[in-house]
Amino acid sequence: MRHAAIFLALLALSPAVSAEARGAVLFQQHCAACHQAKGEGTPGLAPRIAGTQGKHAGSEAGRAYLAQVLVDGMAGPIVVEGERFNGAMPGFSALGNEDIQALLGYVIGALNGDTSSPVDLAAIETARKRKLSPNEVRRLRGS
Ligand code: HEC
Repeated sequence: MRHAAIFLALLALSPAVSAEARGAVLFQQHCAACHQAKGEGTPGLAPRIAGTQGKHAGSEAGRAYLAQVLVDGMAGPIVVEGERFNGAMPGFSALGNEDIQALLGYVIGALNGDTSSPVDLAAIETARKRKLSPNEVRRLRGS
C-alpha cells in the first residue's frame, strides 16, 4: 500500500509520463473517493462513469458537457443506468487545463473505450471561461 502510494506520487511528478497514465493517477487522487477506483460508482452517492459516458464522449457537445462538469461540478437530479442521483459534485477548476485534459482523456478513453482523440485544450479553456453554476451544468446535460 505504501509502495503503491509512493509509486503514484512519482508518476504524478514525472513530466515524461504519458497523459493517460497521468489521467489514471489524477483520477485516483480526485475522483475515486466518490466514483470508485474503476469508475464503477457508489450507489446513492455518485453514478457509474465507466461505460456510461459514450454518448457524451462521442460528440463535440457531449465533450463540452464533460469539460464543464470537471471545471464547475454539477448538481441536480440525473438518472444513470436506471438509478436516480440527486447529488452535488464539486468542480475542479483549481486544476490546470492539462490536468483536466488528462482526466477527461482517462474518463473517455480508459473508462469508456473512446480513444479517437483527446479533448482539445481550447474546449477546456472555453468551459473555464463559461463558468456555469452546478445546476446550469446539470441542465446542459439534458435528460
Ligand atoms: C464528492 C463526490 C464526487 C467527486 C469527488 C467527483 N464526483 Fe463526479 N459526480 C458526483 C456526483 C454526485 C455526480 C452526479 C451529480 C448530480 O446528481 O447532478 C457526478 C457526476 C459526474 C459526471 C457526469 C455523469 C453523467 O452521466 O452525466 C462525470 C463525467 C463525473 N462525475 C466525473 C468525475 C471526475 C472525472 C471526477 C474527478 C476529477 C469526479 N467526477 C469527482 C460526485 C463526485
